[in-house]
Amino acid sequence: MADETDQIFNPAQKVAKVSHCSSMEQYKQLHEKSLKNPEEFWGEIVKDFHFEQNVTGKFLDYNFDTTKGSIFIRWLEGAKTNICYNCLDRHVAAGRGDQVAFYWEGNDPADVERVTYAELLKEVCRVANVLKAKGVAKGDRVAIYMPMIKQLVVAMLAVARIGAVHSIVFGGYSADSLAERMVDAQSSVLITADAVWRGAKLIALKEIVDDALKICRSKKLDVKLSLVVRHMRTVTGPQPATNGAANGNPAKRTHFDDQGNYKVGWDSNVDVWWHEAVEGASADCPPVWMDSEDPLFMLYTSGSTGKPKGVLHTVSGYMIYAATTFKYSFDYHPGDVYFCTADIGWITGHSYVTYGPMLNCATSVLFEGVPTYPHTGRFWEIIQKYKVSKFYTAPTAIRTLMKFGDDPVKKYDLSSLAVLGSVGEPINPEAWLWYYRVVGDSNVSVVDTFWQTETGGHVITPLPGATPAKPGSACFPFFGVDVALLDEEGREIKGEGEGYLVFRKPWPGIMRTVYGNHERFETTYFKKFPGYYCTGDGAKRDKDGYIWVTGRIDDMLNVSGHLLSTAQVESALVEHPAVAEAAVVARPHSVKGECLYCYVTLAEGHSFDATLIGQLKTKVRGKIGAFATPDYMQLAPGLPKTRSGKIMRRVLRKIAVGDRDFGDISTLADPSIVEVLFQHRPQEGKV
Ligand code: WT7
Repeated sequence: MADETDQIFNPAQKVAKVSHCSSMEQYKQLHEKSLKNPEEFWGEIVKDFHFEQNVTGKFLDYNFDTTKGSIFIRWLEGAKTNICYNCLDRHVAAGRGDQVAFYWEGNDPADVERVTYAELLKEVCRVANVLKAKGVAKGDRVAIYMPMIKQLVVAMLAVARIGAVHSIVFGGYSADSLAERMVDAQSSVLITADAVWRGAKLIALKEIVDDALKICRSKKLDVKLSLVVRHMRTVTGPQPATNGAANGNPAKRTHFDDQGNYKVGWDSNVDVWWHEAVEGASADCPPVWMDSEDPLFMLYTSGSTGKPKGVLHTVSGYMIYAATTFKYSFDYHPGDVYFCTADIGWITGHSYVTYGPMLNCATSVLFEGVPTYPHTGRFWEIIQKYKVSKFYTAPTAIRTLMKFGDDPVKKYDLSSLAVLGSVGEPINPEAWLWYYRVVGDSNVSVVDTFWQTETGGHVITPLPGATPAKPGSACFPFFGVDVALLDEEGREIKGEGEGYLVFRKPWPGIMRTVYGNHERFETTYFKKFPGYYCTGDGAKRDKDGYIWVTGRIDDMLNVSGHLLSTAQVESALVEHPAVAEAAVVARPHSVKGECLYCYVTLAEGHSFDATLIGQLKTKVRGKIGAFATPDYMQLAPGLPKTRSGKIMRRVLRKIAVGDRDFGDISTLADPSIVEVLFQHRPQEGKV
C-alpha cells in the first residue's frame, strides 16, 4: 500500500474538461491573486450576489497579532445584504423558481418529497412572519434542534431573513448539551420537531427538548416559544411496523397511542405546532438588510476546557466564502445533482447542505437517514436514483461501508458521479482508494477537504479539475488562504517539514469571535503564535508542497468526524459519585477514526464492575450525546502525573493501545504507576 499512497491521481478528464479551474497554472495564478489583491479577487466574485448597498468602508480590515491589540476581521464594511435573499429571492427573480432545490429522501425509502426554490421562498416567508409575530427581532438568537427535513432548511433561512441569529444544535445531542447551548446563547426561542427515526432508532426530540427547557428555566432562561414540526405523521416507521418495539426497547412503545399515532407532551404556554402557525401566516416577508459584519449564525464546537465555544460567523464574508468554495471545490455546474450526507447540525451541513448549494442555485439531495438503513447500499441507491454527480461524505462513513465489501456498491449504476468529497478527519489512503476505485470506478476526482467550524468553508482542498491528488493529502490552500507550518518556537518551516498548521491572513469565511467571549477567541486561536490563526492541527508538507493534515495536537479527539474535548468527557465522568478522578484519551478505531478510552480512579468504597461501567457510559451519553459513548473503560488505581500534577496523556495513549514504548517518563512523580495501569488493561481490551 505504501507505494500506492505515493501515487498521484490526475483529475478525471470529464471534470477537467468543463472545470472552473482546469489546471495547476490557473489555480496558482488565481491563488496568488487572491493573496496579493484580495479586493480585486473577491470584488469580482461579489458581483454575482445581491447587495442592497455596496461597500462604503474598507474592503478588508484586520488584525491577527495579539501583541498589536485586539483581534478583528472585517470584510466588505458598509455593504448591506441578506443571505436568505441571495439563496432564494435572487434565483426566483432570475426565473429559476421552478428548479428543485432539494429532493428529500426520508429514513424510509418510501418517504420522499421535492421542493422548489419558489416553494421554499413562500414557506420561509411564512415562518419568518411567525417568528416576527412572536417578537423575534434582528440579533436575537434562535435555537434549532431538528432532524434532516425540509423544515430545518426553512427554519434557518427564516431566521436569517429577519436578521436573527440561528444556533443549531445537532439532533444527537442530549438535553443537557442542548440546554447548555441555549443558556450560553440566551436563545429564548427554539424550533424543533416531535421525533425522528434514524435507522430503526426512534429519537424523541420533543421529549429531549422538554427536559432541556426544564434545565433552561432552572438557569433563569425563560424560553417563550418552542415551534414544533409534526414530522411523525408524515413518515413511515421501520418495518415491521412495530414502531417502538423495532428499537428493541419496549418502553419506546409508550410513545404511540392505540392508533399508532406519535404522542408528545404539550405545554400550551410555549409549544406551538409549526403547521398551525404557518397556515395563517403571510407568504410575503421583506428581508432585513444586514450589515456585512452583523452576526449570521453561531455554532458550538468543543473547547479544550470542556465548555463549548459558540463560533460566530457574520453575513457577507461567510456568504461569499461558502458560495465560492462550493463552486470550486465541487466544480459545481447547473445540471449537477449534489448530495452531501452531513447533518445540518454540524458546520458541513450549514455550508454544504444549505448555504453553499443554495447560493449557487444547486439541486441537492437532503437525506434524513443513515448509510446502513434499510440496507448497506442506501447511499449508492440514492446516487443511482437521482443521478448524483457530486457526492460529499465523511471517512467514517466510507470505512463503515467498505466493511460490507464491493457488492453493495456494484449493484448500482453510479456512472453519474464526477466528484467525490471527503471531510471531517484525515482520510486513510486505503479508504481514499476504495472511494476512488469502487465508488468512483476510477473515473472521478476525489477531493479531501480540510476545514473547521471556525473556518466557515474549505481552507485546504484539491480542486477537482486541476489538482493531481495524493490519497490522504488535502493538497493545497483554497483562494485567499495563506498556509504556514510553524515549529514549537513559532518559526516558519519552509519546504518539507512538519509542524503546527496556521494561517497568516484572514479569508472571508473565518469566524469573527466566540459568542460572548472575545478573549477566549483570541486566546484559543491567536495567543500561541502572534500574527497567525492557529488551527490546533498538525500538518506536514512533502517535497512537492502537498499539505498532509495529521490531526489534532491539543486535547481534542475526533470521533467519527465529531470533535470532542477530553475535558468535556472527564467532567461528565467525575459527576458520578463513584469516580474520584478521570482521564480520557483517544484510541485509534478502524471505523470511527478515534474512540474514547477512559481511565477512572474510584472513590473509597466503590467497585469497578459492569454496573458501574454501564452507569458511566450512560452518564457520558446523557451529558453529551450518544456519539460520545466511550468504547473503553479501565480502572486506574492512580494516574501518571508529573510532579506539578499534570497528567501525562501520551503515556495513557500508549497504554490504551498496549504499547510499552513510553518514551521518557522520568518526570513522573511516580513512574511505577505506568506498569500498574498496564496490568489493569481490560482483558479483551473492550468493555
Ligand atoms: C477538525 C474540525 C470541517 C467540517 C467537519 C469537522 C479535522 C476536518 C479534515 C480533513 C484532516 C480534518 C481537523 C479539524 N478535519 N476535515 N479533510 N483532513 N482533518 O468540523 O468539528 O470543526 O472539526 O476536523 O482536525 O481541526 P469540526
